[in-house]
Amino acid sequence: MTPQDLLVENTQPTTQAKQPMSQSIKRIGVLTGGGDCPGLNAVIRAVTKTAMYRYGLEVYGIEDAYLGLLRNRISPLSADDVSNILTTGGTILGSCNKCNPAAYDANGDGNPQDVTDRCLEHVKENDLDALVCIGGDGTMSGAAFLVEKGINCIGVPKTIDNDIFGTDITFGFDTAVTVATDALDRVHTTAASHHRAMIVEVMGRNAGWIALHAGVASGADVILLPEIDYDLDVISNYVQERSRKGKRFTILCVSEGSKPVGGELVAKIDPTSPDPVKLGGVGYVLAEQIQAMSGIETRCTVLGYVQRGGTPTPDDRVLGTQFGSAAIEALMQGKRNRMIVMQENRVTDIDILSVANKQRTVPLDHPLIDAARAVGTCFGD
Ligand code: F6P
Repeated sequence: MTPQDLLVENTQPTTQAKQPMSQSIKRIGVLTGGGDCPGLNAVIRAVTKTAMYRYGLEVYGIEDAYLGLLRNRISPLSADDVSNILTTGGTILGSCNKCNPAAYDANGDGNPQDVTDRCLEHVKENDLDALVCIGGDGTMSGAAFLVEKGINCIGVPKTIDNDIFGTDITFGFDTAVTVATDALDRVHTTAASHHRAMIVEVMGRNAGWIALHAGVASGADVILLPEIDYDLDVISNYVQERSRKGKRFTILCVSEGSKPVGGELVAKIDPTSPDPVKLGGVGYVLAEQIQAMSGIETRCTVLGYVQRGGTPTPDDRVLGTQFGSAAIEALMQGKRNRMIVMQENRVTDIDILSVANKQRTVPLDHPLIDAARAVGTCFGD
């Protein structure tokens, strides 16, 4: 073997091709929809390599989710295309959270149209026998319209928010918690130096999973979740009480979907998006209110998109790889319209149609809430 040979990647199947139960599947399409999240490339890689190496399938990448299906931006993926992407953030296929096949507002004039048939034509034109749809609840809802028209769609759930119904965990969540925990740890030292209350606002939409896990991991004094409406008096008193006890700083981990008892969410509306309520900013509102009520200087950092960018953690790479290969196994076992999930530490699958328009929020009796309360954490209630 020459040194040159060592530089040439072996893209040949390393395992013996398995005999598929589903003989009818020869070519599949793969797409990533919704907000991006660390671990998407791990799934694309696992889908493509499992499909090619184990079953000799052809894999086609669909750009920008259902928009690529609508515009026929579909091209073959090779093993080389998915080489060296396991550790990278984002998605090599691109994503889009503005195209729902059943209601696509092409002109942005508030007049959405059903473009499912056009998407269908492109599935047929490209001879795609099935689609692997990697995404969140919006992507699964989009897949449901294609399923109704007879397209076999296998879903792979993704989101940093960890709020997809039917699965105990989604990839991306671990990375987001790691980033949020690091931010809270960093804020801790500056809060202590300046004797301030410091708020870190984290993502999560209407589910408090990121706030709960990062808050507990960093020992935040106050954790606010969308599932528990907060009372400003309780928070302000808690901050003052800490100060009276000689604790000269307070760390608050606030979920973007938190709201006061009887109050409103802090959000902007994006009418062009199928998910038009864009949360964000409750941390700034709270900072002003806490400072005014407690007399303690309060600052806010909104973490935003850094939580879903960049390198996935090892756990997210592992989960993405498991989910991606499980999607192909499900397909080749002849399953139709399933979504891959993790339940009680087992990778399995559920009906993709059972997922649409549902959200998995933090149950109020979750043991982590109880453990946090036991160590004195305030949930604002
Ligand atoms: O990916 C989920 C999420 O990060 C939510 O936590 C957040 O509210 C939302 O996406 C914002 O994403 P976008 O601005 O892309 O709609």
